[in-house]
Amino acid sequence: MAQARPYYADKGLSAVFYDTVTGADARLQGDIEVYAKLAPPEGSVLELGSGTGRVAFALAEHGLHVTGVEIAPSMLLQAQAKRATLDPETGARVALRRGDMTSLDLKRTFDLVVCPYFTLAHVPAGAAWRNTFATAAHHLETGGLAAFHLPMLEPMRAPGPLNTDLPVMDQALEGGRRLQLYVRERSFRESIGRLDQVIEYVERGADGKVLRRSHERLTYYLTDPEPLAAAAGLAKHQAPVELGGVGEIWIFHKT
Ligand SMILES: C[S@@+](CC[C@H](N)C(=O)[O-])C[C@H]1O[C@@H](n2cnc3c(N)ncnc32)[C@H](O)[C@@H]1O
Repeated sequence: MAQARPYYADKGLSAVFYDTVTGADARLQGDIEVYAKLAPPEGSVLELGSGTGRVAFALAEHGLHVTGVEIAPSMLLQAQAKRATLDPETGARVALRRGDMTSLDLKRTFDLVVCPYFTLAHVPAGAAWRNTFATAAHHLETGGLAAFHLPMLEPMRAPGPLNTDLPVMDQALEGGRRLQLYVRERSFRESIGRLDQVIEYVERGADGKVLRRSHERLTYYLTDPEPLAAAAGLAKHQAPVELGGVGEIWIFHKT
């Protein structure tokens, strides 16, 4: 599948339909509450990979002050547009900026750092993970907490759909349109902890005709986070919190 775009690329449908897909994904439910409980009331939060602002604005609704750092312009633009639809007080508690979580220095600390929904798994396990943990540690005081939502190994091992022509998601959109997602390719190389998938996004009109389609390449990397976090000055704080049977939120404190 030579023509697959990277996930969250400009004009890619994974970016356009990010909120639709995550809004329909029950396996993500409850993540905001886990993060909100880790921060003091009205505290400050750094979100690494803030995407369309799904988590940042929700935490702001809990009264927290959030700085979101995001690498993909397509996602950052959506987050900036979303701010205009929110009540101004909530919007004002969120600062958004373009940046790379593997190399970041905002020259301040936060009460909490979060890296939600498999964002760390988007970068190669190894130096990029260690550098991201170092970013988290750098933006915390001693004892401060950092939460990383990571995929679990067992669901990664599971085979993909037997029939790749059956959508793994078929979601109604406004005006009778539908969004369908197909897993067109899937391979997991456990020896290097790498899952490669090509997902096809298809938007259909009310008459079933294809309006837009896009093949997008989604790669997840997985390894044991503890040694890399420890090398960056983060120690496991408590047992990971399981979410939806596919992921775990790992919580560390700065040593
Ligand atoms: C699965 S989305 C999560 C978005 C948001 N945190 C949420 O939970 O809805 C992952 C996001 O991380 C961003 N991302 C990937 N690598 C990044 C990096 N090195 N620095 C900052 N953001 C990154 C992607 O562009 C994407 O928007």
